[in-house]
Amino acid sequence: MNAPSNSDAGKRAAAEAALGYVEEGSVVGVGTGSTVRFFIEGLARQRARIAGAVSSSEQSSALLRAAGIPVLDLNATGPIPLYVDGADECDPWKRLIKGGGAALTREKILAEAAERFVCIVDPTKLVDVLGRFPLPVEVIPMARSLVARQLVLLGGQPVWRDGTVTDNGNWILDVHNLRITAPLDLEREINQIPGVVTVGLFARRPADIVLVGATPLQEPPR
Ligand code: 5RP
Repeated sequence: MNAPSNSDAGKRAAAEAALGYVEEGSVVGVGTGSTVRFFIEGLARQRARIAGAVSSSEQSSALLRAAGIPVLDLNATGPIPLYVDGADECDPWKRLIKGGGAALTREKILAEAAERFVCIVDPTKLVDVLGRFPLPVEVIPMARSLVARQLVLLGGQPVWRDGTVTDNGNWILDVHNLRITAPLDLEREINQIPGVVTVGLFARRPADIVLVGATPLQEPPR
């Protein structure tokens, strides 16, 4: 068994702190990834307190069911009070890159449906400017090379995540070498390319609260 890393300690601390935002009797939106695994472990201890969860991936749905937590359909629940998820990068204004686990589209849907989006990260995820982590873009398979060419025109180097099929049956392009100084504009621009399902930039709907370990991130003055 691997020894727990420092970042695991940060992930666990953030996940435990996020449990404090779960309201009695509510439906909880649950993201995807190794940080969220810790959150699901904690939620399992509190499963009697919640009505159930809506999940951003088949992977998290399986973990939730194994923990005895009912997995509900977002169409049936309507808006949810809370969504908890990790991120691959977070800037000082709580704008994120997500999709390292290929669940970005459902993650974006849950973030949009949530009154409060609590993002849980360890300190290694914090950056001044987004783009060090390759930006994931979910694409309709037949549009892969068309979208890739458009992404090159935007200054990136798209790499096909060969072998990965999303829960929606689509493919992922990871865009390298971007320095994302205007995340809102880039999110809008990439989402408009025909064949793009979602870009993993969360700027239009950033996190409301980012827990870095157990500590909430404070935004700098604008
Ligand atoms: C999955 C995601 C994850 O939130 C992101 O990849 C972070 O994962 P981890 O908690 O394992 O570092 O966006 O699509």
